[in-house]
Amino acid sequence: MSHSDLPGVVVTGAAGGIGAAVAREACARGHRVLALVHRSTSEPALNVPGIHVEVADVTRESVSEAVVRGLAAAGISRVGILVNAAGAVRHGTTLASTSAESIMESLDVHCTGVMRVTRACLPALLQAPRPVVLNLTSRHGSLSLAASGGVPGVPVSYSYRIAKAAQNMLTACLHQELAPRVRFLAVHPGRVATAIAPADADRSPAVTADQLLDLAENAPPEWSGRFLEPPATFLDW
Ligand SMILES: NC(=O)c1ccc[n+]([C@@H]2O[C@H](COP(=O)([O-])OP(=O)(O)OC[C@H]3O[C@@H](n4cnc5c(N)ncnc54)[C@H](OP(=O)(O)O)[C@@H]3O)[C@@H](O)[C@H]2O)c1
Repeated sequence: MSHSDLPGVVVTGAAGGIGAAVAREACARGHRVLALVHRSTSEPALNVPGIHVEVADVTRESVSEAVVRGLAAAGISRVGILVNAAGAVRHGTTLASTSAESIMESLDVHCTGVMRVTRACLPALLQAPRPVVLNLTSRHGSLSLAASGGVPGVPVSYSYRIAKAAQNMLTACLHQELAPRVRFLAVHPGRVATAIAPADADRSPAVTADQLLDLAENAPPEWSGRFLEPPATFLDW
C-alpha cells in the first residue's frame, strides 16, 4: 500500500502537547492528517505538508462543519484513526472550591466534545477498513481508583475526574453501539510532559505519540471497549 492509500488521521487538541505530537508522527508515518486546534496557531509541528490545520472549538456544534470542511481540504475520504486529545483543566480539588460551571465546562470539552467530533467523523471512519478511535482519558477518571482513595499525594480537580469518568462511559457506549466495525479505546496516555502535565510526568509527547499510533494500528478487536495505558496495561473502570 502506498502512503497516499493509507486512511487519514484526525486529531483534536493538536496545537500542542500530545495532540501536536500525534499529528506530526502520523504524518511521518505517511498519513494525511486533519489537525483540529482550538485557536489559530503557529505550532511548527503542524507546519508541514500532509497536515491540514482547522480551527474549531469542540464545545461548539460548529465543530461538525469544521470536520467536514477540514476532511475535504486535507483530501481525506477515509478516517482510519481518530485521536480525541482536546483537554482542559479547571481548578477545584474540594467541594468548597469547585464551581458548577467548572464541571459543566469540563464535561463539554472531555465528553460532549468527543461525542461531537466522533459523530462528525463517523461517515469517514466507516469508509476505512479497520477504523479506531482513541479517546484520551486519565487514570483519574477511574471510579475504581477514586473509590480506593485516588492517587496519594496527587490532588486532581473534581471537574477533571468527573469529566473523564463521563468520557469513559461515552467510550463504553460507543463501543456497545459500533464495535466491532469501529474500535473504541479509552486510553490513559501515562504521565506526559505537556502544558497540563502532572508534577510526576516522566514521558515526552513524542514517545507518547509513537505509542498511541502503534496502539491504533495494532489493537485487536477485543481491546475495543477497554481502558488501558499503552502499550498494554489494562486499567479498572
Ligand atoms: N499530559 C498528561 O500527563 C495526561 C495524562 C492523562 C490524560 N491526558 C489527556 O491527554 C489529552 C491531551 O493532553 P495534553 O497533555 O497534550 O494537554 P495540552 O498540551 O494542554 O493539550 C490539550 C489541547 O486541547 C485544547 N483544547 C482545550 N479546550 C478545547 C476546546 N474547547 N476545543 C478544542 N480544543 C481544546 C487545548 O487548546 P488551548 O490550550 O488553546 O485551549 C490544547 O491544545 C487531554 O485530554 C488530557 O486530559 C494527559
